[in-house]
Amino acid sequence: MNNKKNEQINQECSTLLDVANDNLVWHTASVSRVEKEKVAGQRGQLLWFTGLSGAGKSTLANAMDDYFRSKGKISVVLDGDNIRHGLCSDLGFSDADRGENIRRVGEVSKLFVEAGVIVLAAFISPFLSDRKKVRSLLTEGDFVEIYCDSTIDICEKRDVKGLYQKARLNMLKNFTGLSSSYEAPEAPEIHLDTTSKSVLQCMEEIISYMQPFRTIGNFPDVQSTPVEGFT
Ligand code: ADX
Repeated sequence: MNNKKNEQINQECSTLLDVANDNLVWHTASVSRVEKEKVAGQRGQLLWFTGLSGAGKSTLANAMDDYFRSKGKISVVLDGDNIRHGLCSDLGFSDADRGENIRRVGEVSKLFVEAGVIVLAAFISPFLSDRKKVRSLLTEGDFVEIYCDSTIDICEKRDVKGLYQKARLNMLKNFTGLSSSYEAPEAPEIHLDTTSKSVLQCMEEIISYMQPFRTIGNFPDVQSTPVEGFT
């Protein structure tokens, strides 16, 4: 019995040792972020789209991705539904799981930003504290919070994935806006009214905000980028 207990304690201790930071030494990268950005001809930045399901986050992130491509800039879309198929496939929709989801995405985004890539992250990310933690991971100015502001009524009417209907039928637990809360950003860098504005209008707002940061260089002709409206 005692042996078994000792074994268990040993196992717990070795797990603790595995996760302790004491034995890890940061290896400074040989190629700096600035050097990478010079090669890429752009600045790394994280555009964080937050809002209810159906508020237009993914539509806008993908439209911006296509816009950057048309300007010869490298961007990447990190989308909640897609990331939950892989990196975060072990997570559900409890408050704690959502926190872990956003933490992982924040860390991944940081790696991309440091490589000079423009990250377009589309996550409901309903909690102020989780979004604040992501912001604090990055250098000031690198995190651009974009609030896709749409009423629950409009999102429910759109119901592209049929999830609002499922949630109303109690087939989905913790559904944001219905059985789980959404904490709107207090001071987002960009506040988009996605109920009254078109995708193009929203893109123009994002682009004009980013212009002084020289993420994209020349001011764009956004009209030339074909995009469909919010659906
Ligand atoms: S977050 O809250 O952790 O940021 P995330 O953006 O990754 O959420 O995933 C949201 C997507 O998961 C929604 O667009 C929707 O398609 C799907 N989903 C499934 N169940 C839920 C739920 N209970 N609440 C919200 N979204 C859900």
